[in-house]
Amino acid sequence: MTQELTSPSPAPQAPGTGRGPGWWRDAVIYQVYVRSFADSDGDGIGDLRGARERLPYLKDLGVDAVWLTPFYASPQADGGYDVADYRAVDPLFGTLQDADDLIRTAHDLGLRVIVDIVPNHTSDRHPWFQDPELARQRYLFRPGKGESGELPPNDWESVFGGPAWTRTDRGDWYLHLFAPEQPDLNWDNPEVHTEFEAIMRFWLDLGVDGFRVDVAHGMIKAPGLPDIGHGAQAQLIGAQVLPFFDQDGVHAIHRAWRRLLDGYGEALGRQVIGVAEAWAPTAERLALYVRPDELHQAFNFQFLNAPWQADALRSVIDASLAATASVGAPTTWVLSNHDVVRHTTRLGGSLARARAATLLMLALPGSAYLYQGEELGLPEVTDLPDEVRQDPAFFRGGRATGAAGPGTDTESAPDGVAAAGGQDGFRDGCRVPLPWSGELPPYGFGPGGSWLPQPADWGGLTVAAQTGDPASTLELYRAALGLRRRLPGLGDGAMSWAPAPDGVLAFTRPGLLCTVNTLGHDVELPAPGTLLLSSAPVTVAEATAQLPGDSCTWWAI
Ligand code: BGC
Repeated sequence: MTQELTSPSPAPQAPGTGRGPGWWRDAVIYQVYVRSFADSDGDGIGDLRGARERLPYLKDLGVDAVWLTPFYASPQADGGYDVADYRAVDPLFGTLQDADDLIRTAHDLGLRVIVDIVPNHTSDRHPWFQDPELARQRYLFRPGKGESGELPPNDWESVFGGPAWTRTDRGDWYLHLFAPEQPDLNWDNPEVHTEFEAIMRFWLDLGVDGFRVDVAHGMIKAPGLPDIGHGAQAQLIGAQVLPFFDQDGVHAIHRAWRRLLDGYGEALGRQVIGVAEAWAPTAERLALYVRPDELHQAFNFQFLNAPWQADALRSVIDASLAATASVGAPTTWVLSNHDVVRHTTRLGGSLARARAATLLMLALPGSAYLYQGEELGLPEVTDLPDEVRQDPAFFRGGRATGAAGPGTDTESAPDGVAAAGGQDGFRDGCRVPLPWSGELPPYGFGPGGSWLPQPADWGGLTVAAQTGDPASTLELYRAALGLRRRLPGLGDGAMSWAPAPDGVLAFTRPGLLCTVNTLGHDVELPAPGTLLLSSAPVTVAEATAQLPGDSCTWWAI
């Protein structure tokens, strides 16, 4: 039976040329989590050479750029987000020459390269922290409270669990919003600003096309480092402005970086960008990071955290587009990354929903980030034994209790460290090395093993197994990305909601109509156009379309 259509209403329009054209406004950017992408030397850890060898695969997939997670010299206390030397490549991942080769090869293939920059904290092995005099000026040291300073200076907790302060042998305390091996920098010190600008220039000179700014909302702390006074800090992260996240002062840093990026871009005749990893409480506050004189993009984690429900998706899409339109920026969609439960698992363990969510994302105006392996439909690995875990949060125990239980798809931790549906809220399960080929681990990941064990049943999920199979998730991604390139109306530009029954979303882009059935059962509709691509088989007969449950379909109109 054909269901009643509700009346149409306009969606906020994303501006076409708010700040002039820019490759990043509608780019699809693929996140390479280097240690789990491809291993060239058999040590079981992915590396830059391995990544370079696989760049043709990414070109063929149809993405515009790659974002490489940190490969800098690091003791690896937090997967490389604890940097000891920002200008050196960790031997685990290769050499500076390998980085240079990778960037050149990517450019030869027409792929841009974004690298991570980690400005909120360094490794405790960084030379600045190793030198007590320098450390006192460039990090956040404070005396403790209590009779003999035996209590932390305030009540802040580490995102990974436990106090955000560690006491030194000298008796004072230093702040670390993450692991104790990641001391927070003192951004009141101009030398810190100078150093990070120099680091950016170093990588821009090597040819990178931009930076993903880690914890872009974290560098500035409220004056006086006031207590939060709330026993359940974890629940507040991303839900309100805290004295250590999303402080207004961070925007001056982003403005300075924008000047640097624009200056460089002009000199080089190309656009280099910054993308903020910022967990802001509202779409409006997130949009502040992409004002015309700040960063170019900011990950839309509210979309990532939205439940698989038509109304919720529509309202997050509206809020996001309205907020970014108000500052002339595109929206930057994302469904998975190395910090959250893979969306196949997060959306109720449903590959059908994951495929539909991806087609929805790729039909929306703006840019999109893909996380390696989502194009294979990889699920979160949820049975990793404790002895192979590496996520520092697992050892500090902070997020296990904060994460929603398995199977819930309406809640997830807002700070990027955990999300619903995983093993226990920790992040190793989304970081298991990719399966490329073969029937047995390491599935072509490299000539050795893999640093985290891969499931025994991934043989059917490898790149080789899925290539050429039109029903595979890999071919769905290839087809969607191919269409996105060919259809000029996709990417940045206008969108309008179209009438749709309850539980179904429909919207138009120039030349295209997208339907999303979030219900668990078929819905019949008048066929809205000519079938272009669907995440699940759609039947069209006598001008009537049967949309399968949990599906997304693109129609030419
Ligand atoms: C990164 C995490 C990391 C944290 C601390 C996050 O934004 O994505 O992987 O643990 O920052 O650097």
